[in-house]
Amino acid sequence: MNLFRTRTPRTIPRMDVQGVALPVLGFGTSGLQGWRCRRMVRIALALGYRHLDTAQAYGNEDDVGRAIAAAGVARSDVFLTTKLEHAHLGRRHVRPALEASLARLRTDYVDLLMIHWPSEQVPLQETLAAFAELRDAGKVRHIGVCNFTLRHLREAIETCGVTPLCNQVEYHPFLAQSRLLPYMRGAGIALVAYSPLARGLVPRDPVLRRIGARHGKSAAQVALAWLVSQALVAAIPKASSERNCIANAEIFDIRLGADEVAAIEALPKDRRIIDPSWAPSWD
Ligand SMILES: NC(=O)c1ccc[n+]([C@@H]2O[C@H](COP(=O)([O-])OP(=O)(O)OC[C@H]3O[C@@H](n4cnc5c(N)ncnc54)[C@H](OP(=O)(O)O)[C@@H]3O)[C@@H](O)[C@H]2O)c1
Repeated sequence: MNLFRTRTPRTIPRMDVQGVALPVLGFGTSGLQGWRCRRMVRIALALGYRHLDTAQAYGNEDDVGRAIAAAGVARSDVFLTTKLEHAHLGRRHVRPALEASLARLRTDYVDLLMIHWPSEQVPLQETLAAFAELRDAGKVRHIGVCNFTLRHLREAIETCGVTPLCNQVEYHPFLAQSRLLPYMRGAGIALVAYSPLARGLVPRDPVLRRIGARHGKSAAQVALAWLVSQALVAAIPKASSERNCIANAEIFDIRLGADEVAAIEALPKDRRIIDPSWAPSWD
């Protein structure tokens, strides 16, 4: 018996982004490796998650690929994202790097190839041109970016002529994206919220917990419901337990009242968790 198949799949809504049906909830895999990663990806797929987020830098593409292959889910049903790190953004490096990712992921294409962090060394035009070649070759369905500021997005669109499908950035109740979001909506770019639970700050927050209690839900579920209820916003929480993975998918029955949304919007917005030395100057 396949133990993973005994789980009841949830239906995770999709949103239309540039004609692509993107599941508004994905499964983040940063920090998951080896058997833990394989187990959680299989659980996520069995629960109905169809949007998986990995990256070369996470060191788990091989585990994600093995888990998808073993899950018995059609490859075409999974929206699979990976990201190239700084060292692989140059013209000569992009294709071999992506091919190595495809081999580890055991697939012949990814749905979304992303620039993991904007580079000050390699011109954006050069990377995006190499990504476009891979898209033309069918190895990449869509082009995306992460950690792009307004300046980078404008350069991609206005100078390079590429409108990314998504910009993956940190977004949760303690960090606003009030400059990026309106611009991205105007350009039809999805905001994929990473660290949507603020890496553990969300579950402890008394305001979110109080709102959750009214709905019979947790603070984490409230934060995710708040994120995915916003136009062109998706979220990719990571969970290393089945319990959390299930809880994060049970958010689509939450209808937040205007007073509750206002309370979430009134929370302090100065908690940026992911801010490495190579981060751009944020908006
Ligand atoms: N593009 C980028 O630069 C970038 C940067 C950061 C992250 N990401 C992506 O975004 C994904 C998510 O972000 P993240 O991993 O930084 O943090 P996160 O999803 O905000 O938080 C993960 C933490 O929340 C806990 N958690 C999950 N579900 C919960 C629930 N229902 N109740 C209580 N706690 C819960 C997890 O615990 P357990 O693990 O114990 O379940 C874990 O400690 C990453 O995995 C990665 O795919 C991308």
